[in-house]
Amino acid sequence: MPRLELTTAGESHGPALLAVLVGVPAGLELDVARIDATLARRQRGYGRGARMAIEHDRVEVLSGLRRGRTLGSPVALRIANRDASINDLPAVTRPRPGHADLAGMMKYGTRDARDVLERASARETAARVAGGAVASQILEALGVRVVGYLRSLGSVDAADVPDDLDEIVRRRDASPFLCPDATSAAAMTAAVDAARAAGDTLGGVVEVVARGMPPGVGGFALPEHRLDGRLGGALLRIQAMKAVEIGLGFAASRLHGSEVHDGIVPDAAHGTRRATNRAGGIEGGVTTGEDVVVRAAMKPLSTLRRPLASVDVLTGDAVEATVERSDVCAAPAASVVAEAVVALVLADALLEKTGGDAMEEVRRNLDAHRRACDALVGRLPPPDRAG
Ligand SMILES: Cc1cc2nc3c(=O)[nH]c(=O)nc-3n(C[C@H](O)[C@H](O)[C@H](O)COP(=O)(O)O)c2cc1C
Repeated sequence: MPRLELTTAGESHGPALLAVLVGVPAGLELDVARIDATLARRQRGYGRGARMAIEHDRVEVLSGLRRGRTLGSPVALRIANRDASINDLPAVTRPRPGHADLAGMMKYGTRDARDVLERASARETAARVAGGAVASQILEALGVRVVGYLRSLGSVDAADVPDDLDEIVRRRDASPFLCPDATSAAAMTAAVDAARAAGDTLGGVVEVVARGMPPGVGGFALPEHRLDGRLGGALLRIQAMKAVEIGLGFAASRLHGSEVHDGIVPDAAHGTRRATNRAGGIEGGVTTGEDVVVRAAMKPLSTLRRPLASVDVLTGDAVEATVERSDVCAAPAASVVAEAVVALVLADALLEKTGGDAMEEVRRNLDAHRRACDALVGRLPPPDRAG
């Protein structure tokens, strides 16, 4: 059973989205304004469509909180939809290739893809981002920081991503693409504008770095304990994500072992450290204590203003696919969703390691674990000769 578990509910044009997070320790000072700031970041990004201009996401905390501190009970969050027209929207009978429309119609036996897309739509990710923002606050209170940003958009790569997380956040938050490399902004703008003019869409790659995770979190006793698998699954469960990399990722398959693995060197403070971090902070499904670094590739959005071929399910005729209100590129927003799901997985794994019902207990157990890791390596004291 997961230690920290998020359930979401809500349709794209229903009254609200809901997030219920079970397993938040008691005694966390929850900053609700910071959850709202993260929701606002998810709504940003050059290339987003009209819907995001309508919605102004804010979270209402329904449970789990008293006088600003968590109680240990489930934290329920509600985000109202301004556009709550679900019952008035027309039927969708011309499924969009690449969306969940036709596959979902087959699954549920319906000829109206509206019944499908209302939940398959990525509006749901607002609830995941809210839950992830709580997970981020648990992690930050324990000395772990998770930062997500855009790594590339279409074929335009971010050239210069600094190592310093404060600098990444500063640059990211000043960027219309949530990208820490300002020099690529002009090329990204041109790419989005050209796609929009052509009635087309674009994808991108998002990256998340988690700094401060202690070593020894995750597991391999069972395959499902492996942290790389848990992160990969969580990232692929974001709408439109089609590939995931950890550390060097796909590039590692083309290199020699000597070019891939991270040498272990002595370290005065921690006993050991790694000379490099090509593994992305995970070996054997367990954290090494280096940064956890993951990337996910998002396909171009499937709602095209110049639509692709489809079939009207009411007639069987060849037609053009439905055109819903849609973004040209949502990869910047997806970086916020990726940050959220990584925070949820890492907070779950960390709490599983530490146990603890209240933050104070979690902190105590984590400090003891960190001390034990630091003391693991080194010359053993002389054996006790007494007696
Ligand atoms: C933040 C975000 C925003 C999205 N916005 C749109 C959109 O405006 N139009 C669209 O067609 N797809 C959008 N998508 C992608 C679809 O939700 C997704 O392609 C669809 O649910 C089918 O799932 P699949 O691509 O994983 O197969 C978005 C995805 C994310 C993560």
